[in-house]
Amino acid sequence: MNSGTFHAVGLGPGDPDLLTLRAVNLLRLATLVYVPFSRLTSQTWVEEAVRRYAGQDCMIFKVEFSLGESSATRQRHWQATARQIIERLRRGEDALFVTLGDPLLFSTAIYLIRALRKQWPDIPIDIVPGVSAYAHCAALTSFAVGEGTLPVTIIPSVTALAEVQTAIERGGTLVLMKIGRHLPQIINLLEDKGLIEHSVFVARAGLPEQHVEIDLRNLRGAEAKTGNLAIILVHNQNGEQ
Ligand SMILES: C[S@@+](CC[C@H](N)C(=O)[O-])C[C@H]1O[C@@H](n2cnc3c(N)ncnc32)[C@H](O)[C@@H]1O
Repeated sequence: MNSGTFHAVGLGPGDPDLLTLRAVNLLRLATLVYVPFSRLTSQTWVEEAVRRYAGQDCMIFKVEFSLGESSATRQRHWQATARQIIERLRRGEDALFVTLGDPLLFSTAIYLIRALRKQWPDIPIDIVPGVSAYAHCAALTSFAVGEGTLPVTIIPSVTALAEVQTAIERGGTLVLMKIGRHLPQIINLLEDKGLIEHSVFVARAGLPEQHVEIDLRNLRGAEAKTGNLAIILVHNQNGEQ
């Protein structure tokens, strides 16, 4: 019997129109879909997108990824999920694992693919790219992410402001992700560095609560949750010729 294929499918940033045709076609034919979820967020749109396109008979399994646990626990968790998926594939079933944005950019799909290949080096894997959240945030604000010869630095999680400062010294575009409660400090830093007018903020792009802010000073005193599921893009002329 031929084995099934594992598809790691990017579903884009949240706007239902930004799913690729390939993602939609795979969801329509799917019989088995794994959906990542975290107890730390109430974000449900990835599962909603799956339910919108998948047929009645499709089985949907939730895979928890808990951000706070130790690396060893996470490894065990991904290895156990990989074992379950491999069992299905060996029986000839295809399995989809869906992710927010693109599966190869700061995504749980990366850990799962690694765990799958560890257990089965030649496993049939198909990776379906998705529109990354930063690309949608840039489009909503007409923000040129890459320009000329300047670098683009993506900071996946703004936990230490020192990292943002170092990236500012380097020049070019900054993509700041996972901003959360650090929003007020980032605004202060950008103001200190004279970059506030070269920065844009987008939260929950493509979702009903989308929030676009071209003047970040308007976010001073905003509710603590404002920085959740948000990206700040900074155009920093440092180092420009
Ligand atoms: C773990 S990363 C996932 C990145 C994803 N794989 C991609 O390609 O965009 C999660 C971060 O992406 C950003 N993000 C995801 N969806 C977003 C959206 N709809 N609007 C704004 N930012 C978003 C937020 O910074 C969030 O903390």
